[in-house]
Amino acid sequence: MGRVTNKVAIITGAASGLGKADAMLLSEEGAKLVLSDINVDEGKRVARECRNDALFFEQDVSKESSWPDLIATTIAEFGRLDVLVNNAGIATIGNIESTSTDQWHEVLRVNLDSTFFGCRTAIPAMSKSGGGSIINMSSTTALVGLSPYLAYSAAKGGIRSMTKSIAMHCHEQKNGIRCNSIHPGSILTPMVHNALETLAGIKLKEQEDPEATRKAMGIGEPLDVANLVLFLASEESKHINGAELVIDNAASIGDISR
Ligand SMILES: NC(=O)c1ccc[n+]([C@@H]2O[C@H](COP(=O)([O-])OP(=O)(O)OC[C@H]3O[C@@H](n4cnc5c(N)ncnc54)[C@H](O)[C@@H]3O)[C@@H](O)[C@H]2O)c1
Repeated sequence: MGRVTNKVAIITGAASGLGKADAMLLSEEGAKLVLSDINVDEGKRVARECRNDALFFEQDVSKESSWPDLIATTIAEFGRLDVLVNNAGIATIGNIESTSTDQWHEVLRVNLDSTFFGCRTAIPAMSKSGGGSIINMSSTTALVGLSPYLAYSAAKGGIRSMTKSIAMHCHEQKNGIRCNSIHPGSILTPMVHNALETLAGIKLKEQEDPEATRKAMGIGEPLDVANLVLFLASEESKHINGAELVIDNAASIGDISR
């Protein structure tokens, strides 16, 4: 308990999946939260479920103009900003031959542009708070080649490289801000539910024991990622900056045909 006591954190895409799990865990460990999402009902519900102070802010992360408002609201409510989790994202399925230009731009806007806007807007506020931790949600798709995720891989690859550039900038500025990327493999959230149905025709809800199926398929659970987010948000990771942290139980390092 108390690993992030009194830290103020923004988590985007907090209404569902990984963002929701991050919110629950950081709140349990003492953080004050500003949760953003386009899904207002679920976002408000998550904020109400948090153990500690938490407010919901309606935001489309791909809209540049939403970011100054989010940061200003955070400072007005809690007086500082210590942690930004750029978690909101979408995945669409399409390979290099089937991806439309609209699909490409949408996926890059929601995943990559948003992370750029978020980091750029948060850094001055974090600097004034004496430093902080930026946690950018990438994916193992940034590290391996998955043909059905062309635009998503490009967006997550961009986040991976941008994170290192930001980490170096903050190191040079000596502003006390760290910036790291997280690269989950498959984690069971609504996003992966949809992908399993679309790509593999697997309907987990219809399985006799979805939990056994999850484990048999080597799929992680949201708390696996939330534990890493908590570590990066806390002072325990104070010497980790510009790192890419893979969380996939070895799925991306071996022979995937075995
Ligand atoms: N689940 C996985 O296996 C997995 C693996 C690697 C990376 N990721 C990444 O983790 C993050 C969270 O994914 P998840 O699995 O929890 O997905 P999810 O679909 O369960 O949750 C995503 C959340 O983002 C919100 N969102 C979508 N577009 C938005 C926008 N424009 N503005 C604000 N909020 C928006 C959604 O409303 C939703 O609440 C994403 O960036 C995803 O790419 C997930």
